[in-house]
Amino acid sequence: MNGAVGGRDADPGRNGAAQRPAGRRGPFVIGPGEVGRRLAAALEAAGTGPRLVRRDAGWEAALDPLDPAPRIVAVREEDLGEAWARFDAPLHGRLVLVQNGFLEGRIGAPGELAEASRGLIWFTAKGGFFRELMPSLFFGRAAGALAAALARGGLAARLVPDAVEFRRELVLKGVWNALVGLPLAVHGVDLATYRSAFAAELAELADESCRAASAEYGVAVDADEALARFAATTGELGWVRGGTRALPFRNGAIARFGRRHGVPTPVTDRLLRAAGCAPEAA
Ligand SMILES: NC(=O)c1ccc[n+]([C@@H]2O[C@H](COP(=O)([O-])OP(=O)(O)OC[C@H]3O[C@@H](n4cnc5c(N)ncnc54)[C@H](OP(=O)(O)O)[C@@H]3O)[C@@H](O)[C@H]2O)c1
Repeated sequence: MNGAVGGRDADPGRNGAAQRPAGRRGPFVIGPGEVGRRLAAALEAAGTGPRLVRRDAGWEAALDPLDPAPRIVAVREEDLGEAWARFDAPLHGRLVLVQNGFLEGRIGAPGELAEASRGLIWFTAKGGFFRELMPSLFFGRAAGALAAALARGGLAARLVPDAVEFRRELVLKGVWNALVGLPLAVHGVDLATYRSAFAAELAELADESCRAASAEYGVAVDADEALARFAATTGELGWVRGGTRALPFRNGAIARFGRRHGVPTPVTDRLLRAAGCAPEAA
């Protein structure tokens, strides 16, 4: 069953036997970095016996078509295409992608991405800093048991069963990322300063991002909702400085959606140019 997450019986270490990764049967965590290791820790606490897959170790088992465990893919957006390409089509339904950005149209062949389950990670993990901002949200056939296991292991997580509701959440998270990354990097300010000194730009950026992403995903998310979510989840992130990573999956995607649907994205375009990224090429 695709949703199988393993269980306490699957972890020989609990009975005093040697803790051998080979004896484990729990979910694979591909890319145990900031996000991956937090997910793995919760799965460990839930007794599922997660299996870590690094660039140079663990791939053979993760690619075994007979192994029914979910594969949580926690690599960065830039590395996702390569990781995705390693899996044959029958395994796509066992993947759970937890990247931040808008992945549609950039990963796999057209239509393939829909096979995978998705996660929207609503915690921030950077070095020693870890804050849960709200429950992380999961969608898809491999996601239900996984969200339940993460919650058992102490991480706030829940399944979003409805596809449209999840697309709305995907837009809310994508817009959130468009607000906390590129603009701060361009202006050279932290999030607290951006919120107070660039309030008008923030509102315009949220508005055009919501319009463009809503048009792309066929949902209605307005700036008031996005800014309310932003306010509710960034209280402890005033120190964040932003960055220009993964722009084609974030603000670059917003510019692309805008062009495709006739939604002007002047603030996004200006910020992208300031960061040395031509919006037309994003
Ligand atoms: N950190 C956060 O607070 C946060 C919050 C929400 C969402 N996210 C999203 O989560 C994703 C991961 O972010 P992160 O902060 O966890 O990044 P990260 O700390 O760089 O972790 C990514 C990990 O993936 C590994 N990796 C890359 N390619 C791989 C491959 N082919 N096989 C196995 N492992 C591979 C990397 O290994 P190397 O070290 O060798 O490169 C690294 O350990 C991003 O899409 C990000 O947007 C992050």
